[in-house]
Amino acid sequence: MILVAGGTGRLGRQLVSDLAGAGLRVRTFSRGASQPIPDVAHDGVEHLRGDLASRANCEGAVEGVEQAVFAASGFGLRHGGTPRSVDRDGALRLIAAAAEAGVGHLVMMSMAGAAPDAPIEILRMKHAAEEALKTSGMAWTVVRMGANLEQQLTVLGGTLSSKGTVAVFGSGTAPVTFTSTPDAAALVRRSLADPALRNRTIEWGSGTYTFNELAEALIARAGRGRVKRVPRGALKVMGAVARPVSPFMARMAQAALWMDSGGAAFDPAPARAEFADLPVLGLKEVLANAGADAQAPHKAEPAHRRRR
Ligand SMILES: NC(=O)c1ccc[n+]([C@@H]2O[C@H](COP(=O)([O-])OP(=O)(O)OC[C@H]3O[C@@H](n4cnc5c(N)ncnc54)[C@H](OP(=O)(O)O)[C@@H]3O)[C@@H](O)[C@H]2O)c1
Repeated sequence: MILVAGGTGRLGRQLVSDLAGAGLRVRTFSRGASQPIPDVAHDGVEHLRGDLASRANCEGAVEGVEQAVFAASGFGLRHGGTPRSVDRDGALRLIAAAAEAGVGHLVMMSMAGAAPDAPIEILRMKHAAEEALKTSGMAWTVVRMGANLEQQLTVLGGTLSSKGTVAVFGSGTAPVTFTSTPDAAALVRRSLADPALRNRTIEWGSGTYTFNELAEALIARAGRGRVKRVPRGALKVMGAVARPVSPFMARMAQAALWMDSGGAAFDPAPARAEFADLPVLGLKEVLANAGADAQAPHKAEPAHRRRR
């Protein structure tokens, strides 16, 4: 049995569908709060309703589990969770329960840039979860993703059809390394199947683009629209002022500033060279398939055709 904590989320849905499609037994674990929990009769997957905030729920989730994936997050929650409560404390609770229950291997979805002194909270919380996993006694794999490509395209393109504009936060000129959902799911599947990926941290990206390039690609695809820029000054104000009323808005503003400062770029080439058989699904393919948060089918692009 493979447990996917956060198995109803963006990455979780793709991963669970791929694993179940390959005939593996899969259990998801989520609250059914931000994402609906599918009907077991529909997809044949065991969906467990529970909260990472509850030790008892975590213990129930890991029962009979050989391998687990932590794909939950509080970063995008408007209510009911934060990076601190989900990405750090929830992860620590699940790790402790899994280690005690004898789970053999846990894959932690983390972020490129995770560090104890990182400039944004989510990166510090991800680092704490990574460290707890490494000392848990279980075999571990840390997958450090870039910003999710489909999610960012959805956010950028949100106002294109209604208002004819694409909102770009800051200058939009900084390189950002993105990871598409199918690419991330493919590496997690490999991590579960191949013992050689155990006790390793892998930085996994699909391509590096600026936000201006993403905006131009969306406008070109639509055949209309223009960029509406949100100045860095407004983001700074939002990051500070919004915190007491909407920690979610404050997080988004701080993350946008971090990405606009160039901190979210990394070199995915070394890992891609090592796992060259895994297809790369970059901007062109994601836009052609759906452009946003739809579950894009796998589509191979040879490594040498990667954007950057
Ligand atoms: N998106 C990115 O740009 C990005 C970048 C790097 C790394 N990552 C990491 O990759 C993983 C997948 O990200 P994603 O974007 O696919 O996440 P997502 O779409 O935001 O989904 C989050 C999942 O976590 C569940 N969840 C939240 N709080 C929970 C709680 N207290 N107890 C149990 N489940 C809870 C949610 O369901 P309910 O709310 O219904 O419980 C949902 O299934 C996460 O670990 C994330 O940190 C994401």
